[in-house]
Amino acid sequence: VKRYDGFSDNLAVRLGSYQAPGPNDSRGPCPGLNTLANHGLINRDGKNLNSTEIKLAFPRGFGIAEDAIEVALHNWEVVCEYIKGTTCGTAANDGTFILTNLTILGEPHAFEHDHSYSRQDYRQNWAHGGITDNIYFNSSEMQTGLDVVGYTTSNPPKVAAANYQQFNDIRLQRESIQNQRDFPGWFQQNVPPTLFETGFIFGATFDRDSSGKMKESTPMARLKWWNFWFSEESFPTQLGWVPASTEVFNSHFCTSVSSAVLNAAVTSLPKSLPAGATATTFPPPANLPEGDPSPTLALFQSAPYAAATSPAAIK
Ligand code: HEM
Ligand code: MN
Repeated sequence: VKRYDGFSDNLAVRLGSYQAPGPNDSRGPCPGLNTLANHGLINRDGKNLNSTEIKLAFPRGFGIAEDAIEVALHNWEVVCEYIKGTTCGTAANDGTFILTNLTILGEPHAFEHDHSYSRQDYRQNWAHGGITDNIYFNSSEMQTGLDVVGYTTSNPPKVAAANYQQFNDIRLQRESIQNQRDFPGWFQQNVPPTLFETGFIFGATFDRDSSGKMKESTPMARLKWWNFWFSEESFPTQLGWVPASTEVFNSHFCTSVSSAVLNAAVTSLPKSLPAGATATTFPPPANLPEGDPSPTLALFQSAPYAAATSPAAIK
């Protein structure tokens, strides 16, 4: 059976197979792109990625529509140009472009931002000038968020899925903790992309029936799938996850989740929240300013997460 996007319905064909990145492969701060690379839906080495292939790979793997990644693709190109000091567009000038690699997305305070769900901040717990790993998955940062809703990996987990309100609790807790942990003067609050990424998490982890359609009328994020996806950078098929079939989720889905999460009444406010953390209007993430190459901060450098830590082998 061919699905809506022409790719096979056979999951092994559709989703490729997982291979951990090697020490010379490029990975970055995006769990979505890293997963596509680990499954070979984009170049496994994470380098010289063509925007056209990325636009095909996200619907294929995650069921996300092209319109939801347009701003992100544009901003990646801008970051690429900041770093390379030259255009990242192709000679063909046909609107496609080649992105150098996944790691450049970790340029701090450009597209990458503080208070991520699963990554540390670039200057966290370090003296001025020190660099923290703001690129690869960090299980203790992830767990601080999961703890907010009482999720553990025990079977069955105490809480199976998180709603809008629980995600707002997690989001505010991450802001508060990082605001306190970062080196004084470093922390920058960046709510719109965080909320849009929350839309990605809901879209990738809501319950689907066996034909891939959304089961509930209001999406909830299934936490074991979220945790598996982020920590293994692989599709959680072995935990019962199924990719989209006839429906893709789009930019409107993401922005409506963003607003709903932002406006969900929280159980209690954590201390040391930066001003504006609880504003209720959601300005969607905007294009980064184009311009001359900026002086950039050095990227955090090391082997990709899986190569560095050898997690349990997965299919
Ligand atoms: C985070 C880039 C598409 C899921 C990020 C970050 C970047 C990025 C730079 C780091 C932000 C931070 O500091 O947390 C991109 C680009 C995309 C893209 C260039 C498209 C070309 C997607 C898609 C998904 C996704 C389609 C969902 C399947 C996420 C999530 C995070 C994230 C959930 C937050 C991670 C965290 O908070 O720990 N992405 N992304 N991304 N991305 Fe992507
Ligand atoms: Mn970050």
